[in-house]
Amino acid sequence: MERKQQPIGFFDSGVGGLSVLRHAREMLPNENFIFYGDCGNVPYGEKTPEQVRTLTLAACDKLYEKGAKAILVACNTATSAAIHAMRDKYQIPIISMEPAIKPASESGNPGDILMMATPGTVSSARYGRLVERVGCRDRLINIPCGGLADLLEKGEFDGPEVESYIREILSPYAGREVCGIVIGCTHYSFVVDTIRRVAAELLKGACDIYDGMYGTVRRLQYVLEKEGTASDGPGGKVELFASGDPAHLEVMQKILDM
Ligand code: DGL
Repeated sequence: MERKQQPIGFFDSGVGGLSVLRHAREMLPNENFIFYGDCGNVPYGEKTPEQVRTLTLAACDKLYEKGAKAILVACNTATSAAIHAMRDKYQIPIISMEPAIKPASESGNPGDILMMATPGTVSSARYGRLVERVGCRDRLINIPCGGLADLLEKGEFDGPEVESYIREILSPYAGREVCGIVIGCTHYSFVVDTIRRVAAELLKGACDIYDGMYGTVRRLQYVLEKEGTASDGPGGKVELFASGDPAHLEVMQKILDM
């Protein structure tokens, strides 16, 4: 098969990366995709960096073997623990996620930046270096959202459980002036509307939402064009794979069709 026609591999610990895939499908209609969700091992955000690295490489081996021409790691936690190991291992472009604290910090809006991510991302050395580079430590509040990704794995994004989790996690900042909220985990992209609504009720300030997926998909587009491997079509096909219970595939398909 000609390289241009090969699919793009997407990887996440679970269903979260489908939020990025949905956006990529819209932006790159000529491309085909294979998505692997490691649903049997989710959540990654509460595992050690070594465990995350081992699981990520094992999962991405599958995408590589299936002929992915590039892999987008649609998981902030896996990026922070395994991106170097992946770039060493695979001879194809590896596109990573990054919490969008830079655009939040450069927005010009006054107030704090709230960064919602997994405990693994927030405590990672890679994220620490990003915070230093951006220079926003004094106004950055990291909110490790342990358990939230797990809650969203069922594919139910509007339930009262999700709403009360978000309310509880944001309530310590009630009345505070907030410049922006960074969505630092791909699972949370599915509940941005709830985050926005609860933030508008509890917090002050612009409370703009910053989601790294848009920049990541732009980067994917740029890399494919630069390498001359962007597909001329026909595109639009998505193959889904998951570890663990096969019922995960039904949830994934439902999310993709939403
Ligand atoms: N979706 C993943 C992320 O972007 C992590 C969820 C998890 O497995 O804890 O960080």
